[in-house]
Amino acid sequence: MKAKTVKGNWSWRTKKFELPFIFLLCIFFFLAGFFGSNLIDHHSQEDEFDTRLMQRPRARLLEKTKKEETEQRLLHAGESGDNFITSIPYQVLSWKPRTLYFPNFASAKQCESIIEMAKGGLSPSMVFLRKGETLESIKGVRSSSGTFMSASEDETGILDAIEEKISKATKIPRNHGEDFNILRYKVGQKYNSHYDAFNSALHVQQGSQRIASFLLYLTDVPEGGETVFPSENGLNMDGSSRYTDCIGLRVKPRKGDGLLFYSVFPNGTIDPTSFHGSCPVIKGEKWVATKWLRDEKLENYYYVNVTSN
Ligand SMILES: *[C@@H]1O[C@H](CO)[C@@H](O)[C@H](O)[C@H]1NC(C)=O
Ligand SMILES: *[C@@H]1O[C@H](CO)[C@@H](O)[C@H](O)[C@H]1NC(C)=O
Repeated sequence: MKAKTVKGNWSWRTKKFELPFIFLLCIFFFLAGFFGSNLIDHHSQEDEFDTRLMQRPRARLLEKTKKEETEQRLLHAGESGDNFITSIPYQVLSWKPRTLYFPNFASAKQCESIIEMAKGGLSPSMVFLRKGETLESIKGVRSSSGTFMSASEDETGILDAIEEKISKATKIPRNHGEDFNILRYKVGQKYNSHYDAFNSALHVQQGSQRIASFLLYLTDVPEGGETVFPSENGLNMDGSSRYTDCIGLRVKPRKGDGLLFYSVFPNGTIDPTSFHGSCPVIKGEKWVATKWLRDEKLENYYYVNVTSN
């Protein structure tokens, strides 16, 4: 009787539920396999998973929601804050060194005005003499002309507005910035690759470190004149070619666009990949406004008055 009942039950089940049962079984094994393999995957490749696969889509999602929220979510700011939201678009060009590109940072008119203001005061650009260097040894390293201009000297208010925007883009307070260095490179002129950060001796003498550089391109350059990072991502770390050759990451100047890179790691040590230069101009003229930003506010700093040629 018992066996009969069981047998009867079984045949009753198989007849009525055979297909749905197998179907459910399939789904169960599929899901088990799917989640199981995901767990194993995540464990065995955690590092790669985090840095390559997760970071980018996650960051993109974050940007999207932030953008949607900003309109309604204005907060009461502190004494020194703003009662509006600032949005400055940028593209990450590299993490080694940390390099950001800011399209349309200044208007064409602003760029033209800055060039007009700077034209009167041009003199050959200077360099800091580092240990073991003499005037003779650095001859030809930098062949541009330039002038320093402070935002307070500019009655048009253009440099003031740009300085304000740079402080927002870099999140470094305005009083950490040196005066603007407006530079002109004519055909054939260049700046061999170098570090903006000071070696330890200069750092002591200067009282603070240059931690970041912001370049505002004031002209388009039809050919040549790129800002070059020969050691981007750790390439060409040795060999003399990296001083003079336009190799590695090259950024073509575009009128009104900005370029920011950091010369030190967050812990303050110099980032060896921040090595950079200016390729020779082949066609046209390159004008650029440079602002060096320091780790301390600037009160008593001075320039070392050295001319390279
Ligand atoms: C500073 O940070 C860099 C990059 O993370 C690291 O390579 C270096 O060892 C650090 N230096 C010190 C003194 O902690
Ligand atoms: C460089 O020139 C400035 C102004 O002309 C001067 O105050 C400063 O002392 C000079 N620095 C050196 C190291 O000679």
